[in-house]
Amino acid sequence: MSTPDIATGRNAPPGDEAARDALVERLFEAALGTFDLAALHVGERLGLYAALAGGPLDAGELAAATGTAPRYVREWLEQQAVTGILAVDDPDVGEDERRYSLPGGHTEVLLHPESLAFMAPVARAMMGITAQAPRLLHAFRTGAGLSWEAYGADVREAQASMNRPLFANLLGPEWLASIPDVDARLRADPPARVADIAVGAGWSAIAMARAYPKIFVDGLDLDPSSIELARANLATSEVAGRVTFAVRDAADPGLAGRYDLATIFEAVHDFSQPVAVLRAVRNLLAPGASLLVADERVAERFTAPGDPIERFMYGWSFLLCLPNGLADEPSVGTGTVMRPDVLRRYATEAGFSRVDVLPIEADFWRFYRLLP
Ligand SMILES: C[S@@+](CC[C@H](N)C(=O)[O-])C[C@H]1O[C@@H](n2cnc3c(N)ncnc32)[C@H](O)[C@@H]1O
Repeated sequence: MSTPDIATGRNAPPGDEAARDALVERLFEAALGTFDLAALHVGERLGLYAALAGGPLDAGELAAATGTAPRYVREWLEQQAVTGILAVDDPDVGEDERRYSLPGGHTEVLLHPESLAFMAPVARAMMGITAQAPRLLHAFRTGAGLSWEAYGADVREAQASMNRPLFANLLGPEWLASIPDVDARLRADPPARVADIAVGAGWSAIAMARAYPKIFVDGLDLDPSSIELARANLATSEVAGRVTFAVRDAADPGLAGRYDLATIFEAVHDFSQPVAVLRAVRNLLAPGASLLVADERVAERFTAPGDPIERFMYGWSFLLCLPNGLADEPSVGTGTVMRPDVLRRYATEAGFSRVDVLPIEADFWRFYRLLP
């Protein structure tokens, strides 16, 4: 009987060859996917897709239109055509004459920031996170965290861009509209006040103000760069008079105000001290008000192998959310995979008397309503 030889990599034990080959195949496919994301990042960041949206171009024309180097652009165009993201008019003409274009349907996925099909930020986030590999290895060895600030602008902006279409299309018209008493209060007088906690780049606050023309929204976040971005996003919107953004620690027991609704989108699992935050937010709620939490739609309990959502969330967790959550000490270290029972426990410890899971359908999020 042969034994596996780890040093030379020869000889899977008899019976293990199929598993070996399946893993090889799977990792080869993963490498192709990684190249697609890296190329997508290059195309998005350098404006290559945006230029191609104007019509077919050859490598020289695209390089001239985007201020990039023709030889690199030619290689990128060939990679994009070979991988099927761009179309090539005639592959048989000379390499400098070939003209490339965006196939119908691909423009929305690559270029429309408020489309629910927009995927460019996923590539940017992946590239931004993996750029931190040396610091992540250090974190694994030492237990240290990695702050949101330390991940840098690509990760911060990509995370915001991933959630922006959800807020722009669904937050007002579908999610809030499906909670009758909340929807009624947001439409009523006196104008309602909403606290948007861990607001990031502000898209949720802006979307709520757009959906409900009377309300006032105060967004806060611990991260100064996120608040700077939120203010820039707000400045170009038509709701600037009804939305404010401030740098604040949501765990600060001194948070003041009286709000008719509080919201926390995709952030409870990032908090180093989630109970302290939930307690501080509970103190902000006016009589009859509640806290809406949206967080990852992970399974009720650990199962392995898991479905694509579990795999997706564990990926974000070990590379981003857990290190980020461990950046402030002390930290409970929740990670992206926050099971519903964990959120219920945090809410109970923070003094909430009820946690309802709302019947809102969203691919990646579960909605909780916390009542004081
Ligand atoms: C994954 S982002 C979500 C941002 C935004 N809600 C969205 O959906 O795009 C998590 C955010 O939580 C913020 N955060 C973490 N701990 C915080 C705290 N103690 N107080 C306020 N914000 C905090 C981070 O700075 C980051 O902007």
